[in-house]
Amino acid sequence: MRPFLVIAVVVCASALGAALSPANPRNPQEPQLAPAAPDPQTPYGVGKAPFAHRAATSCAAASCHGGGQVGKVGSEHSTWAPEAFPEGQGDPHTKAYRVLFNNVSVRMAKALNIGEAHKAALCLKCHAVDSGKDPETRDQSLSEGVGCGACHGPADKWIGDHYSAEWKALSNREKWEKYGFVPAGNLVARTLNCAGCHVGDADRDVNHDLYAAGHPRITFEAAAFHHQPGYRKHWTEKTPQPDFEVRAWIVGQVAALRSATDLLRSRAEKADKPDGIWPEFAGYSCYSCHQKIGEGAIRGEASATTRAPGVPGWEVWSNTGIGIAAEYCGAAYPGVSSPDLKELKALQKLMESKRAPNAKAVATQSTKAVAELDAWLAGLQAAEDRGAKPVPKGTAEKLANAIARNALSKDGAKLADHDWDALASNYLGCAAMFHATGGAPANKWGKELDAVRDNLRFPAVKGARFDSPFDYDRNKLDLLKKNFERLRDATAPTGGN
Ligand code: HEC
Ligand code: HEC
Ligand code: HEC
Ligand code: HEC
Repeated sequence: MRPFLVIAVVVCASALGAALSPANPRNPQEPQLAPAAPDPQTPYGVGKAPFAHRAATSCAAASCHGGGQVGKVGSEHSTWAPEAFPEGQGDPHTKAYRVLFNNVSVRMAKALNIGEAHKAALCLKCHAVDSGKDPETRDQSLSEGVGCGACHGPADKWIGDHYSAEWKALSNREKWEKYGFVPAGNLVARTLNCAGCHVGDADRDVNHDLYAAGHPRITFEAAAFHHQPGYRKHWTEKTPQPDFEVRAWIVGQVAALRSATDLLRSRAEKADKPDGIWPEFAGYSCYSCHQKIGEGAIRGEASATTRAPGVPGWEVWSNTGIGIAAEYCGAAYPGVSSPDLKELKALQKLMESKRAPNAKAVATQSTKAVAELDAWLAGLQAAEDRGAKPVPKGTAEKLANAIARNALSKDGAKLADHDWDALASNYLGCAAMFHATGGAPANKWGKELDAVRDNLRFPAVKGARFDSPFDYDRNKLDLLKKNFERLRDATAPTGGN
């Protein structure tokens, strides 16, 4: 199975680290050098488990998850299922298969020459759960869209056991490695799994061919994705606010970047294969290419970015917040130290110093960066499993200020990065902290936050829909700088700090 090979590559990449770690769970022959096992070097829950999926109807018995009382424990299927909601609510994932019949999908399938979208593996991999060969159950599970197994793991091996006492005694890692169950209660495992579709992986790639054929842009921000209006969740988070949101934002930054970096690795490794594409435009910030040209439109001067002129930013969306996540991860998860991200920084430099970086060098460096991010994620994951203590009071407020400052250069004279993705990513981070700290009226900086959002909005023109900020020029950038300064000042800790 290809996805499992991917995991193997990652494990090999961190082989040096793993060989030095006494209790390598993937290699029982490894001598046990020390009694206390350090945190493993790779998180559990990444990639695809080699077991068969079941249709969501297998979970729908009244005594299991189909209790019929929307929002209640034991009614998870009832809550997720579309028939429980008036049109437009429900879990967004239940329409993922149906959209493959809409006009956008039909047009895309034609442009890409892949037959019908709802039969194409390329689309089904992210828009449905495939239960395998039996045509009847397969049709059922596909038509359900992104069903239970997409987030909880293929159920074939655990569906009969997952309520037993023996099951409950298993560790999260055992549940994943032996049974393919995704322990979604652990934010790291959960978010890495969301990112498999919302960012992509070696086997599921929304590349620029798909975008140019009409696929909407996929961007993932874990905190925002947990608070979509109308997304009625079938669970209650175990930790209360603001802890949940602080952790979801930090873990989300790392998990999304890890997934994007691994996607880069797989694209770079395939570069010289017949179906390889290099460089792959979808790994860069869209609006670095899709923008106005001309003297008045030169935007680079508004920021302190070190990218060479004309070089598009690599995964700016996911890279923007990573330094703040590193700085604050110890506050969210006591005992987890801030990584220096040496390999990631080397990769960023490699990607942004030349328009078409050498694919072999990128493959090598992204492998190292994935291993580095994996070790960090494994540490966060283990901390969460140990039951992290409450996040110190005031952390969300400090984070809001740190993220607002992150939009500006160190000396405050310019923007840190003029790319729309960088500014949008900083905005979303501040918005998450606004929500975490009680929203309005608990916070006095709602106005400043909204001003930034309004600057970032795509232009609304009657009768047309725009998927890009075509009015994004020096004026907009100057406004954004001013409004981020206001946001920074409004979120500054009172009492001097
Ligand atoms: C198997 C792939 C897959 C996985 C795993 C997955 N999603 Fe999705 N998600 C999708 C697809 C496809 C859509 C688009 C559905 C549509 O609009 O038809 C979507 C839509 C959404 C939306 C609505 C987005 C919008 O713009 O309205 C949210 C929110 C969301 N997902 C959150 C999550 C979260 C949180 C997780 C992890 C707990 C997750 N997803 C896991 C595939 C996936
Ligand atoms: C890597 C996973 C992935 C693949 C592969 C993929 N999609 Fe998607 N698709 C998504 C996600 C995630 C969303 C939701 C984006 C969001 O709202 O954030 C989405 C959204 C869409 C939408 C918009 C849905 C809506 O509610 O308006 C359409 C249409 C669509 N995809 C069609 C396709 C087609 C056709 C293919 C195959 C050619 C395909 N997708 C392949 C992940 C994927
Ligand atoms: C988009 C991802 C996603 C899909 C699809 C999904 N779940 Fe969940 N589910 C989650 C997350 C995230 C949690 C919260 C963490 C946890 O408790 O595992 C959760 C929690 C649960 C829980 C625990 C609830 C609690 O209160 O502790 C059950 C049971 C459950 N899901 C069953 C289902 C069933 C049955 C389906 C299919 C009808 C389903 N889930 C589909 C993501 C998903
Ligand atoms: C390195 C430059 C570059 C980057 C980065 C880039 N694109 Fe493109 N894009 C192009 C070029 C070149 C075309 C072809 C334009 C044409 O055919 O007229 C194109 C075409 C498109 C089209 C079709 C437009 C049309 O009118 O036919 C869409 C949609 C699109 N890109 C979306 C995206 C999205 C979304 C992203 C980010 C995920 C992105 N692009 C990133 C260069 C880029």
